[in-house]
Amino acid sequence: MDVGDGREGRRLEWQETQVADGGPESGRLEPEPGGRPCIRRPGIEPSFRAGRTDVTSGTDNAGVVSAVRGSVVDVRFEGRLPPVLSLLRMGKDNGIAIEVLTQTDPHHVRGIALTPTQGLARGMPVLDTGGPLKTPVGHAVLSRMLDVFGNTIDRGPALADVQWRSVHHAPPPLEKRSTKSEIFETGIKVVDVLVPLERGGKAGLFGGAGVGKTVLLTEMIHNMVGHQEGVSIFCGIGERCREGEELHSEMREAGVLPHMAMVFGQMNEPPGSRFRVGHAALTLAEYFRDDEHRDVLLLIDNIFRFIQAGSEVSGLMGQMPSRMGYQPTMGTELSGLEERIANTDTGAITSIQAVYVPADDFTDPAAVHAFSHLSASIVLSRKRAGEGLFPAIDPLQSSSRMATAGIVGKKHYDLAQEIRKTLAQYADLKDIIAMLGLEQLSEDDRKVVARARRLERFLTQPFFTTEQFTGLAGKLVGLKDSLDGCERILRDEFKDLPESALYMIGTIGEAKKDAKPDPPTKPDGNPAPPAPKAGHA
Ligand SMILES: Nc1ncnc2c1ncn2[C@@H]1O[C@H](COP(=O)(O)OP(=O)(O)O)[C@@H](O)[C@H]1O
Ligand SMILES: [Mg+2]
Repeated sequence: MDVGDGREGRRLEWQETQVADGGPESGRLEPEPGGRPCIRRPGIEPSFRAGRTDVTSGTDNAGVVSAVRGSVVDVRFEGRLPPVLSLLRMGKDNGIAIEVLTQTDPHHVRGIALTPTQGLARGMPVLDTGGPLKTPVGHAVLSRMLDVFGNTIDRGPALADVQWRSVHHAPPPLEKRSTKSEIFETGIKVVDVLVPLERGGKAGLFGGAGVGKTVLLTEMIHNMVGHQEGVSIFCGIGERCREGEELHSEMREAGVLPHMAMVFGQMNEPPGSRFRVGHAALTLAEYFRDDEHRDVLLLIDNIFRFIQAGSEVSGLMGQMPSRMGYQPTMGTELSGLEERIANTDTGAITSIQAVYVPADDFTDPAAVHAFSHLSASIVLSRKRAGEGLFPAIDPLQSSSRMATAGIVGKKHYDLAQEIRKTLAQYADLKDIIAMLGLEQLSEDDRKVVARARRLERFLTQPFFTTEQFTGLAGKLVGLKDSLDGCERILRDEFKDLPESALYMIGTIGEAKKDAKPDPPTKPDGNPAPPAPKAGHA
């Protein structure tokens, strides 16, 4: 582990406590020499936690619960006071975990619970585990589903042959970082043509609720995981629990599970656990990058929930809220996580993150902070989703650092600029069309509108992940075919074909020759939308 060794000095002090295989924390359920029974975390949902693996031996530093306020717990220690970020165990079978966040006086620490605190009472004994929250790393985690403690939650057997590492690390130092400007093809036309992703970059999928962030992210996993040689790590933060289960079975069916690990802290879990699950996933990603020298694809759904969990923790700890009620430490918390997603000479972490935008307000501080960390921002618009133009990416609001002539090549760049220009002109003309009707436009403007509307339709695409409820077979389109299609539309090759002929197709060769003629335009210039057969919303 040459890379790891080079970074040793920079890792937080907890790194020293890392235990190799067979150590006291490697998952064996033996009583300790002192006769004290081994401490294991009982399941929060016992039936689902059968595969639990975290076993913490603890130190002999014992304390007593002195106050419980929901998720906030005060503990009194007579001897050594555990440092900040220590993990404390308490309650029945030591099943309740608390992370120390402040030392309030020489004898008291205050921490946030990572588990529900039901049953906790003043006077209960507390065990200092002598280290921070740890997560298992190693080959054994591939194809598994874990929670924030590293317990398996896929009903499979417990993890064996893993190392336990602290979830807190410093980002790699500047001299270890590397940058390459390479494109990551997704097979999704509008992404590859207008907002190309960067290998080793961070891309964000921004949008309000229900505009298709999760669907787009899942489609990208589907299209990319099979082709890329590295490993993929999916991290679910604060979203619906069923999404984890669905993803797991989809990935198993697609046969890509052996190269994938999943870590979940969904919306039913306490804020403390949602706040740390991203760190646990990153620790896994760093292991594959630094120890195994592999490229990692890290998918996060949803990074906004990380900020939200941080805000809940901050509020519970009694900090004054800052702008719009967010925590004053939001910037540092987010960059602490995002900066760890970095590329070194030995491996790259490419990350795609969904970012929920509260109330579709893109000036929300959480969205603004997330924007600043990303190399590509893909903005999903509710209007497009309403028109059935899926994926509902708004090309004029989305941007990518890769979309320059030096990286994608002059031909691609010029074409992308021309597409943007056409779409922007159409957007400007929309008001006039709404007031006066399409007929009042000049001949040239009408041509622009026809091209833009055909481009918009061509840039929709049926997805593999939505096959069940759209009834359309998914399509993967190479960059060359996508560019070719756009170019031919701009050259007016398809002006005599109805717009609907280009809707939800793959390559331009699939344009439906037998499509029905377009319905007459409504006063706002929009024909009735070709509604998708969405099964559920
Ligand atoms: N590419 C798509 N094709 C067809 N329907 C889609 C597509 N993307 C999203 N939808 C519809 O929108 C719904 C919400 O999408 P989802 O990804 O769960 O939203 P979000 O994660 O942004 O809240 C889906 O259940 C589906 O009906
Ligand atoms: Mg979602």
